[in-house]
Amino acid sequence: MSQITSDSALATRSREFDDDSAPDQAWWRDAVIYQIYPRSFADANGDGMGDLAGVTSRLDYLQQLGVDAIWLSPFYRSPQADAGYDVADYRDVDPLFGNLADFDEMLAAAHARGLRVIVDLVPNHTSDEHEWFVEALAAPEGSAARERYIFRDGKGEHGELPPNNWQSIFGGDAWTRLTRPDGTAGQWYLHLFDSKQPDLNWENPEVHAEMEAVLRFWLDRGVDGFRVDVAHGLVKAEGLPDWSGAAAMVEGQTEGGEKAIAPFFDQEGVHEIYRAWNKVLKEYDGDRMLVAEAWVEPIERIVRYIRADEMQQAFNFEFLLAGWDAERVSSAIRNSLAAVEAVGAPSTWVLSNHDTVRHTTRFGLSDPTGFPKGISAEEEQPDEALGLARARASALIKMALPGSSYIYQGDELGLPEHTTLPAEVRQDPAFARTAGKETGRDGCRVPLPWSSQGAALGFSGSSAAPAQPWLPQPESFARYAADLQDGTPGSTLELYRRMLALRSAEKLGAGTLVWNGLHQPTDGVLSFDNGPVTVVANFGSAAVELPAGKTVLLRSSDDASRTLAPNDAVWLR
Ligand code: NOJ
Repeated sequence: MSQITSDSALATRSREFDDDSAPDQAWWRDAVIYQIYPRSFADANGDGMGDLAGVTSRLDYLQQLGVDAIWLSPFYRSPQADAGYDVADYRDVDPLFGNLADFDEMLAAAHARGLRVIVDLVPNHTSDEHEWFVEALAAPEGSAARERYIFRDGKGEHGELPPNNWQSIFGGDAWTRLTRPDGTAGQWYLHLFDSKQPDLNWENPEVHAEMEAVLRFWLDRGVDGFRVDVAHGLVKAEGLPDWSGAAAMVEGQTEGGEKAIAPFFDQEGVHEIYRAWNKVLKEYDGDRMLVAEAWVEPIERIVRYIRADEMQQAFNFEFLLAGWDAERVSSAIRNSLAAVEAVGAPSTWVLSNHDTVRHTTRFGLSDPTGFPKGISAEEEQPDEALGLARARASALIKMALPGSSYIYQGDELGLPEHTTLPAEVRQDPAFARTAGKETGRDGCRVPLPWSSQGAALGFSGSSAAPAQPWLPQPESFARYAADLQDGTPGSTLELYRRMLALRSAEKLGAGTLVWNGLHQPTDGVLSFDNGPVTVVANFGSAAVELPAGKTVLLRSSDDASRTLAPNDAVWLR
């Protein structure tokens, strides 16, 4: 039953989804979810930074695209040291993006269009400008205020060495030493990411209570779910033992070349937290959901986050990392479906997000299974046309798979990565913390091109004299603009619209995958059925004949023949 607090009258009014469906019917099981990176989606006030009013202004576009839900990356109060993944106030909107009234308006407008709204929750760390951390710094060592974070004395004669050897995911030590008010060196605090992102201490019940209160704050407002940032990181191994392995955000953790479990990731204790959150969500109507961002391997460990009494979804990173390769993709699909079946959850399918080089670009590199951490002008540049052809073909595979599918903003335009951003505009803390060794994630975060003409390619809407966008757009973005593609036969946008309409009409998300044996991945061709739809995708270097007696419903290229060329995919009936 719904638990509505006094200040949530608006939420009561704006929610149009009170469909407590049977567990196997919940909306998120087969939803197409569109990731909005608010900084770069649409800028309503012309300051060069996307905002919530910008999101509201483009909801018709998303409805027309045919998605079921949107997920917004963080828009909370934040000094933006990690583009908002450093939250200073979990219950407020950063003025960069608007205010709570803008949020409520956006939420109501989304719901009115039948779109669910998922927000990001960042529970592993706060900003160093969060009131708790400010209080902790002013409080004495060993005080209750410090117990909300992970402070430790250093090693060495004078505590001059970090408490252990953990490295930050963004490069450098995962510990920063404080200076006491009298100028002497003090304790160290842990930050798995930037030094402006201190890790919370999840051994402290106060932290649990606060994060549950934050969940309720947004649930009361009417959100449909949360994407849980670094879901695998909250609990650290007892004693914070040294570790000789290497941890990356995306590719997981290795020790001596082998996959490993780091003492700061994927610890058993995290699951208790999600069991408690599951109960919080159950108090609300409308199938609210949690999706885990847990970069752990293999997939059997990911699905532990989506057992019946924990979260509802987890991002499927094995599929994302498979690249453009028939055998890798088919094995990722097989492994994922088998793993989720064991826990009774749906699979998710995702190819890009704000932390990865866009797949359109990855698939155009000489190794289309590679996973670069950003691309700079000095590095190999993609074959843009090849990458686009493969991205379109991979969309036909992804959207025909049973389960829930994610689109990263711009995927539907076939948007490539910005691969020549100059160093001086880069903002990813990973770039700075590795002294440029890691190019970083800015290239996939560039503001969207809404129109082929005009300032900032329409990103800043109708503003007369908008500021420069926070990251410059490459010239090529004009060719991908939404207005050019709108209504243009064969455009990637029209391909997506038709694909999502067919996916919905044929209920592919709720369907069952059957390997039909028409082709084998070892021959470079993937082929499967889902209900009445047969999918054939050619990853190889030789053309193959389409099976006789079937009609082409959808095709990733404009080829009209019965031969499927390399890098082309079809839906047949
Ligand atoms: C994962 C987020 O997706 C990423 O953007 C962020 O930098 C880290 N978590 C730290 O919050």
